[in-house]
Amino acid sequence: MPFSTLTPQPNDPLLALIKSYAADPREEKIDLGVGVFRDERGATPIMAAVKQAEEQLLTTQDSKSYLGPEGDKGFVTAIAEHLFGEIQTHRAIDGLQTPGGTGALRLAGELLVRSGVKRIIVASPTWANHLAIFQEVGLSVITTPCFDLKTQSFDLKGFSETLNAAEAGDAVLLHGCCQNPLGIDPTKQDWRVIADIIASRQLLPLIDIAYQGLGDGWEKDNLGARTILSAVPYGLLAYSCDKNFGLYRERTGALYVSAPDAESLHCTLSNLLHLARTNWSMPPDHGAAVVRLILTNAALHTVWREELETMRQRILSLRHELAHLGTIGSLNLAPIAHGKGMFATLPLTPSQVTWLREHYAIYMAHTGRINIAGFGEGDIQRFGSALHALMKQNIA
Ligand SMILES: Cc1ncc(COP(=O)(O)O)c(C=O)c1O
Repeated sequence: MPFSTLTPQPNDPLLALIKSYAADPREEKIDLGVGVFRDERGATPIMAAVKQAEEQLLTTQDSKSYLGPEGDKGFVTAIAEHLFGEIQTHRAIDGLQTPGGTGALRLAGELLVRSGVKRIIVASPTWANHLAIFQEVGLSVITTPCFDLKTQSFDLKGFSETLNAAEAGDAVLLHGCCQNPLGIDPTKQDWRVIADIIASRQLLPLIDIAYQGLGDGWEKDNLGARTILSAVPYGLLAYSCDKNFGLYRERTGALYVSAPDAESLHCTLSNLLHLARTNWSMPPDHGAAVVRLILTNAALHTVWREELETMRQRILSLRHELAHLGTIGSLNLAPIAHGKGMFATLPLTPSQVTWLREHYAIYMAHTGRINIAGFGEGDIQRFGSALHALMKQNIA
């Protein structure tokens, strides 16, 4: 019998959460589960700059002919200019368009395996799909807990020890900004320390940037990536435009290689193009064409930057409002103010998360991750009351 050796795979718990939220009739329900930006009305609108670029495309695009496995090169170059800046004067950097950041990570994983890399080091917790992708391509994933949820801080010492114990040639996954699921990023000094260890241990960094512009800002959110890539001869960077351009379902991303010279870059890139050809042949075009238009047209760029900054400011003010709830039982929410990006993870147990859902219609991942942009008008006050009630329950 075909497929008889297969075992059923579990559903993604977040998708199940979205379904039960939709089915919940309680009017006061709050959705902190889904990983998309929400405005104050709870909507995830198409950005005005994207709409304008789409209108331009509609009138000017004159062919849907194939572009090739590299996708839209103008898009790849436009992102690279903003992302890498002056590093491109002393590193050979190029890339290819991929179906979202996920496609970039998958391709990076396959390239690592093809190059003989056996292990990838990941500070945990991380985005669940990181672990799944790297395991699926055949890498051994070494996870080390590197965060303290109570104080919402990054354990640089613990991460440094893990990196120092790694073997030359091991890969290391780094969230370039706005760590998902914690929102806890290394500081400028931390990045320096991490870069020095990666360079001296001859490790290979794979940087994942999926939220540029939603942390410290569009320019500043590339600091970590630039610090790392300047310190090492080789690096990979997976990029997603699906959050900062609100393009989610358009699957818009890129994978970049940074190499010491053009010759080594060419060889690595040719392998990536070959891998892309055997995976999806060519990436979907629309999202990348939109981003290219926005980044290469001064007027559109200005509109988009303002919108991105408005999104960032909304997240920041919600972070401050949450932090204002202060200490509730054993929970201290104050450090949430200093987190970056859409996500934070509260030190709650799965039973406590279930209790909040059943008694207060508050939906969040069982890990305690919340999407801060999910809070609407007045929701944070209600969230605070719910946490007060929860802490009186003695639920472990
Ligand atoms: C950390 C991280 N990397 C990559 C991605 C992938 O993004 P995309 O939707 O572009 O595949 C996500 C999406 O949630 C993410 O959170």
